Amino acid sequence: MKTEVVEIEKLIFGGVGLGRLANGKVVLVPYVLPGERVKIRITSEAKDYAEAELLEVISQAKDRVEPPCPYYGTCGGCQLQHVSYQRQVELKKEILLDIFQRQAGLSDVPLLGVYPSSKSFHYRNRLRLHVEASSTLEPPPFKLGFVKWKSHKVLRIEECLLANETLNSVLKSLYHHPTFMVLSPYVKRVRIEHSPAEDKATLIFWTMIKPLPRDVESLLTIQDLKSVFYILRGTRPEGPFPKDAPYGGRRLFKALFDLTYYVQPGVFVQTNWEVNLLIQQKMFELAQGCERVLDLHAGMGNFLLPLAFKLPRGEEFLGVDTDPRAIEDGLYTAKKNNLNGRLDLRTMSSHACLHEMIKEGRTFDLVLLDPPRGGCKDILRYLPNVAERHILYLSCDPPTLARDVKVLLSLGFDLQGLYLFDMFPQSYHLEVLAHLVRKA
Ligand SMILES: C[S@@+](CC[C@H](N)C(=O)[O-])C[C@H]1O[C@@H](n2cnc3c(N)ncnc32)[C@H](O)[C@@H]1O
Repeated sequence: MKTEVVEIEKLIFGGVGLGRLANGKVVLVPYVLPGERVKIRITSEAKDYAEAELLEVISQAKDRVEPPCPYYGTCGGCQLQHVSYQRQVELKKEILLDIFQRQAGLSDVPLLGVYPSSKSFHYRNRLRLHVEASSTLEPPPFKLGFVKWKSHKVLRIEECLLANETLNSVLKSLYHHPTFMVLSPYVKRVRIEHSPAEDKATLIFWTMIKPLPRDVESLLTIQDLKSVFYILRGTRPEGPFPKDAPYGGRRLFKALFDLTYYVQPGVFVQTNWEVNLLIQQKMFELAQGCERVLDLHAGMGNFLLPLAFKLPRGEEFLGVDTDPRAIEDGLYTAKKNNLNGRLDLRTMSSHACLHEMIKEGRTFDLVLLDPPRGGCKDILRYLPNVAERHILYLSCDPPTLARDVKVLLSLGFDLQGLYLFDMFPQSYHLEVLAHLVRKA
């Protein structure tokens, strides 16, 4: 395909640069920065835009830096390692404003806070890796890694610079562990999860045959590993190994107000715990004065528990989630922190919960939303019947957030503020909190 020299106008969501070909057509190029002149090769052409690969940076932006990771560009997990961290945050801010102007139709976007991550590397508290037979004759006979960018092949990795150091140490040990060598032909995936309050890790592996308990337990000779689980079929892990692992092998997290959270393997935890604490703090500030709180995607109680613990005028706290294990953890954590009776946690969909609240005529002065990436447009129309004053909507996907905020504006809510939290340095992802208030 042909080559061209283009100027990069801006970065868009996804971390790619937008430029224009000589014929005026938009072209998307990875690993560039606004203002750079670059030589590119067109790799595909659609009706409205083309995609290209970067061949050479002819004039480089001052914020370009040398990416520290040897896998950068092949792995696909990071898109912004070639950008200084300060500039990454500025670019995410520009991208967020652009999305809200275009997709929510706002001329004046009330972005009230931007919170960078205290760690720009080594912030991830879990590693999810594929296991594949090695294509070389060199031992070990397997590779652990991520699926390569634009491919189905597994890229062998020895270390991920985004992951916490303890996770990397467990990853390195797995390559040399005699039992893991024996188990590896049957293992499809592994997940290493950090327990920050103990600086230990748990290991879960997905296996095609039932392993012997003694083999699973022998993995515990890996330094920093506190418990091991495996999944044969379904989603509920077998374990913990050892059977008497403290707290059932759960991970421990110190949260706002010194609460300790206890989380089973595989239950969702926000990726960057330090940034999660900033979000907990902001939610607590914005919830002041509220008495009745409904959390429609409560998970293991991440945001609801500090509110139930300390909100001065708090009276009713109801949280629902479709993951029964997350709800089990919320209840376990509430008990351990002597919060019993302060909150009601139920395994239920947000949709079913809203129907039940409407039927019972129950309303809340604060509703929390934290749905998966696709957003929650199917439940928005019920919110005017249940959300009396505030909605706090946390999202890891600004385009679906902008789409849903636009609907909420049409349903009688005002967008009071947006807060950007850089939960995912080096990648294009960002976490955004939208504060909506019902019009008087
Ligand atoms: C991004 S996570 C957030 C969880 C929690 N707020 C936290 O910070 O840990 C999204 C959560 O939504 C839950 N979920 C997905 N679909 C749901 C639905 N229809 N109703 C209720 N919860 C749902 C998932 O199980 C998951 O726990």
